[in-house]
Amino acid sequence: MSRTLAPFGRRLCPVVAHAEYGAYDVISVLDAEGPAPDPGQFYMLAASERWGGGADERPFLPRAFSVLRRHDDGRLDFLFEDVGPGTRRLCELRAGDGLWLLGPLGVGFRAPEDERRPLLVGGGVGIAPLAIWQDVLGAPALLGFRDAARASGAALLRDPVVATDDGSVGFHGLVTELLREEIDRSCAVYACGPPPMLEAVRALCAEEDVPAQLALESGMACGYGACFGCVVPTREGYVRLCVDGPVLDAGDLELVA
Ligand SMILES: Cc1cc2nc3c(=O)[nH]c(=O)nc-3n(C[C@H](O)[C@H](O)[C@H](O)COP(=O)(O)OP(=O)(O)OC[C@H]3O[C@@H](n4cnc5c(N)ncnc54)[C@H](O)[C@@H]3O)c2cc1C
Ligand code: FES
Repeated sequence: MSRTLAPFGRRLCPVVAHAEYGAYDVISVLDAEGPAPDPGQFYMLAASERWGGGADERPFLPRAFSVLRRHDDGRLDFLFEDVGPGTRRLCELRAGDGLWLLGPLGVGFRAPEDERRPLLVGGGVGIAPLAIWQDVLGAPALLGFRDAARASGAALLRDPVVATDDGSVGFHGLVTELLREEIDRSCAVYACGPPPMLEAVRALCAEEDVPAQLALESGMACGYGACFGCVVPTREGYVRLCVDGPVLDAGDLELVA
């Protein structure tokens, strides 16, 4: 499988911008030395200061994040939702702060075969790898969020169709209901989001006989194949998501759990 390889060792890069999109924070970091990532690849991130050493010593390990966007000058954007000590610290970063960055890691999205019509389906922070993929493909996007605060993240993609669980923005319902309306045999689906959403996308694509690539998540301690903490089951056995994914073919999965 082709992938852009990370240089050995982590790099200390300056944060150059911070922006808020409702419930989400986006930081830009200047990675002048690093190679351009493939859409769907990820980085292991840790703030250079106040990472660990808190009341319960967390966060201690770096955390995995999809690259949201890469700019021509080497700036990388990342999207965070504050769900724990690591994301909370990353959301606090401002221009001038330092970020340890290891990557790009893993295998990203592959272009559609047979002139299929690409369709992007994202949920919550799962919109991140779809933004950089849309920059390459220019494909339409269906995005689902819990509420209006999270739906502000839709501004990070071009012309998305938005669904919210509470009906506060766009279609009232699940993004997979939008997918059911849109899907046909000519599609190639690319999806990232919470496991129940990805399982619904997998099942629908199997039913419609449509190929899909899913960007999955699992707990990652190292990010480069050493700890086996990230294994997920496939029809062929367990794979390490950090080196064999995070993007897997939906057809290789029995279930997304
Ligand atoms: C390839 C990849 C790409 C990612 N991209 C992004 C991204 O772009 N943006 C983003 O915000 N996040 C992304 N994530 C998710 C992010 O890495 C995790 O949520 C990370 O754990 C956050 O660290 P934390 O210290 O803030 O929270 P943690 O303390 O690690 O907890 C995170 C969440 O997981 C739950 N959790 C923790 N441990 C367990 C457990 N053992 N079982 C079940 N639930 C548990 C917590 O309750 C919390 O809701 C990505 C993950 C992967 C693997
Ligand atoms: S995160 Fe360590 S092997 Fe995948």
